[in-house]
Amino acid sequence: MSQETLSNLLHENRRFEPPADLAANANVKADAYDEAERDYVAFWEKAAERLTWETKWDRALDWDDPPFAKWYVGGTLNAAYNCVDRHVENGNGDRVAYHWIGEPEGDSRDITYAELKDIVCQAANALTDLGVKKGDRVAIYMPMIPETVVAMLACARLGAPHTVVFGGFSSTALRDRVQDCDARIVITADGGYRRGAPAALKPAVDEALESCPDVRNVLVVRRTGQDLGEGGWTDVRDVWWHDAVDGASKDHTPEAFDSEHPLYVMYTSGTTGKPKGILHTTAGYLVGCAWTHWAVFDLKDDDVFWTAADIGWVTGHSYIVYGPLANGTTSVMYEGTPDTPHKGRWWEIIQDYKITLLYCAPTVIRTFMKWGADIPQKFDLSTLRIIGSVGEPINPEAYIWYRETIGGGRTPVVDTWWQTETGMHMISPLPGVTAGKPGSAMKALPGVSAVVVDDEGNAVKPGSGGYLVITEPWPAMLRTIWGDDERYRETYWSRFEGMYFAGDGAKLDEDGDIWLLGRVDDVMNVSGHRLSTTEIESALVSHPSVAEAAVVGANDADTGQAVNAFVILRESALTDGEPEEGIVDELRNHVSKEIGPIAKPKAILVVAELPKTRSGKIMRRLLRDIAEKREVGDVTTLADSTVMDKIKEGIAAGSDED
Ligand code: WTA
Repeated sequence: MSQETLSNLLHENRRFEPPADLAANANVKADAYDEAERDYVAFWEKAAERLTWETKWDRALDWDDPPFAKWYVGGTLNAAYNCVDRHVENGNGDRVAYHWIGEPEGDSRDITYAELKDIVCQAANALTDLGVKKGDRVAIYMPMIPETVVAMLACARLGAPHTVVFGGFSSTALRDRVQDCDARIVITADGGYRRGAPAALKPAVDEALESCPDVRNVLVVRRTGQDLGEGGWTDVRDVWWHDAVDGASKDHTPEAFDSEHPLYVMYTSGTTGKPKGILHTTAGYLVGCAWTHWAVFDLKDDDVFWTAADIGWVTGHSYIVYGPLANGTTSVMYEGTPDTPHKGRWWEIIQDYKITLLYCAPTVIRTFMKWGADIPQKFDLSTLRIIGSVGEPINPEAYIWYRETIGGGRTPVVDTWWQTETGMHMISPLPGVTAGKPGSAMKALPGVSAVVVDDEGNAVKPGSGGYLVITEPWPAMLRTIWGDDERYRETYWSRFEGMYFAGDGAKLDEDGDIWLLGRVDDVMNVSGHRLSTTEIESALVSHPSVAEAAVVGANDADTGQAVNAFVILRESALTDGEPEEGIVDELRNHVSKEIGPIAKPKAILVVAELPKTRSGKIMRRLLRDIAEKREVGDVTTLADSTVMDKIKEGIAAGSDED
């Protein structure tokens, strides 16, 4: 598309109506909104019929003790049975569950539902042999390989809540999570492929477990065949996956668990230093994922679905694993990066596998825009029907480019707003019903009550902005923060009485449609990944050279936001008042080691002082002005109003030297 067409489209304040053929055959029609409005509990009861229950619930919602919800009370079911076995029993065993594509070209595997059932049963038997029982926690630290899904389902089958730790996190982050949920087993791999080379995982596990003496066993998938090196294998503790799983029996009877039995814990960054373990339970979560996946992607039997995200994030949990499998979908799962071995890899995958539904994050769309439209244009993308966006606000330019260049101008874009905590899509167009506007997630899904409120918690009028809250419980909502009910209440339910506070700012346009404006707390969104400013500050301060640190997320054209840090060094790290050489790189690497490469600050500025209020609170707003190279805002509440001038002088002096 020419630059001119693009800007024409942008300036028209576009609104895209659902395509007529899609609207005519849509899974969900407009009356769903009214139906849910009349009785949202009854609406979610109907949605729950998508699942197979061992015992039906006797009460759909128990909200007697808010904010602690129970859904489908008295019901029992097995999540893995719902995701796998029942499809085989219904005659769909030959259907492909995953077209798995490894990063090295030609390294691919198709796994049918029947095959998946066999391996999940084998893995469940192997875990049982390792002593895993209902309620035990299992940590999973894996690359994007089929065994990751198998491991999760085997845990679910046994009622052992899993905690998947993103493979890009550091050993320190893994250690903290293993300790917090007291996992006794870790499932990992020797490594995975990233950017054309094997990337090791097992050494990070070994390092993490030095401080986790309660972990009994590590189950290790051989993916890359790397040499594990001296001390890289601990005989009594480490077990090869192929030794434990491949020979295990394929018979395993799933036990039905209570609707509220814990399914998994997923850690996410909050406003304080320590990541929070978000707890999801079995039935409500599965109903929420299954229904939204079916409704938002207007899922049909012959669709081929691809969520291009990592299983280590909630998007992977809900829309690579639980939602699609509960619906018996054929999915594509890709191990590697979009530019390996060439920048057309995604489009080649879509062409080869005739993908109909694509789901990814705006940050990667912006990267593709930068690489140029001529790359996707070399491939046949005509099978795509609906394309989705998740993880951060999608800017109108990226939306239009996505719709036009990737979707050929035909495909609705579903901009889905949700969170680790919500478990499922909450705000999104329904592609056969709701129009789309570039930049807006449009409106709450049927059965979800999203409201934009002002400081006092009153709903704002169309045309105004405020905070996004959810006013009624929903099935896939988090149940608590693992081991910390009080923090759960405090974090989400205390800002506005009786409402779930999401932490996002939002505005309503004149039509009453919702536009997400990003976080209003100390959480950053970098390339669609959630990072906490405080967590990165703690990591910086844990370095012996750092006395104090302040971190802000500054707007960034590629990654949405970028991590910018301001640090005050200790005397010992200064020579004649000047920072010691190489310190900035060292600090960046230190953060990467403490949290993971995604948290590495893009820029670190050494300063002599930080702007603080009289009560000692760092004024991040002013630092953001500096990071975004703007005129510095109001400084009247600073304890020392000259601090900002000193910081600016410091930057000027620093740039002279360059
Ligand atoms: C942001 C990812 C705007 C938001 C599923 C939220 C979005 C946080 C969107 C949750 C969207 C997610 N538009 N912002 N469509 N989707 N966000 O827990 O700030 O990793 O609070 O879950 O991402 O991030 P999380």
